[in-house]
Amino acid sequence: MRAAWYEQQGPAETVLKVGEMPAPTAGPGEVRIRLAASGVNPADVKLRSGKSNYGHAFDRVIPNSDGAGIVDQAGPGVQPSWVGKRVWLVNGQRLGRAFGTAAEYIALPSKYVTELPDFVSFAEGATLGIPAMTAYHGVFADGPVAGKTVLVTGGAGAVGFYAAALAAWGGARVFATVSGPEKAARAEAAGAAATINYRTEAVAERIRDLTGGRGVDRVVSVDFGGDMPWLPEVVALNGAVSAYASDTDRTPAFPFHLFARRNITVRPFILNSLPPAVLDATRWGVDAWLRARPDAPRPVAGTFPLAEISSAHLAVEAGGKFGTIVVEPQG
Ligand SMILES: NC(=O)c1ccc[n+]([C@@H]2O[C@H](COP(=O)([O-])OP(=O)(O)OC[C@H]3O[C@@H](n4cnc5c(N)ncnc54)[C@H](OP(=O)(O)O)[C@@H]3O)[C@@H](O)[C@H]2O)c1
Repeated sequence: MRAAWYEQQGPAETVLKVGEMPAPTAGPGEVRIRLAASGVNPADVKLRSGKSNYGHAFDRVIPNSDGAGIVDQAGPGVQPSWVGKRVWLVNGQRLGRAFGTAAEYIALPSKYVTELPDFVSFAEGATLGIPAMTAYHGVFADGPVAGKTVLVTGGAGAVGFYAAALAAWGGARVFATVSGPEKAARAEAAGAAATINYRTEAVAERIRDLTGGRGVDRVVSVDFGGDMPWLPEVVALNGAVSAYASDTDRTPAFPFHLFARRNITVRPFILNSLPPAVLDATRWGVDAWLRARPDAPRPVAGTFPLAEISSAHLAVEAGGKFGTIVVEPQG
């Protein structure tokens, strides 16, 4: 099969190679998928570049963890009816697995694979694993949000957009921080009732105005350290903050007394470290949302053929994208 891989971490143009490799076969409990789309997430780029904390544990890595395609083999112990199904997947190149989705085929446990509704394109399906599942856990980890207020920071990001959409679907009034008018329009398209430019406006003041001084019930944070200067001020009594990244300051000072006084739950998390049952519930939660909201946008920031995978990785590194960059392994 044609695949992309790297054997050492480093710059995309230097370490990413495209060539032929033996195709995998579905082992016990596995399905094999003929991949039509491979989602590139910031963590895939950090793992390849060496900017990740996880190091490099394999002789060869096929990058990218998310993807979508059609099942063409069911291994021992897997229902043969899987064959021919359109699917999306998570954990392709995570949890001890070296071979991800930047290849014509992947074999992986069927528990990471979910049927893709016909109204979702393969490229859109490749945006669901990390972005939508992270958003789902970020929004719902502390329980239902119906009737609550949720602040999504970075509401136009790949994860943030889905977080705003999922919180709105869950019945919350959603606010989002953004860096400008174009991103504000995108967060509003996802479901945000109001946006706040975190670069030019006083976030705590705006949230006080929007909530009648009460604060929000939940915050889903893309930048825990960056949000910290105002974060404890905007959360209501007994509220919760879930944080999936902290890129501007990975070791922010934590004002314990401000969080304790309001009894604020703080939940930093990494999707692939969630307990298997939670990961599974998250996957089914995304599936339920997809089917309930078939017309919801599922943003694809751009598509690249496999031969141009280094350009796809560079596009993620450059930032400023809207949605998920997708590589097409059959292209
Ligand atoms: N914990 C997990 O399991 C998990 C899962 C997925 C992603 N992540 C991490 O989450 C981060 C974002 O991933 P992504 O795929 O959503 O990336 P993305 O599509 O590039 O989106 C990031 C968004 O955050 C905005 N942003 C950056 N700093 C901000 C701040 N201080 N306040 C508000 N908005 C801010 C950016 O826009 P502006 O800069 O224009 O504001 C951009 O819209 C990455 O570090 C990624 O590795 C973690």
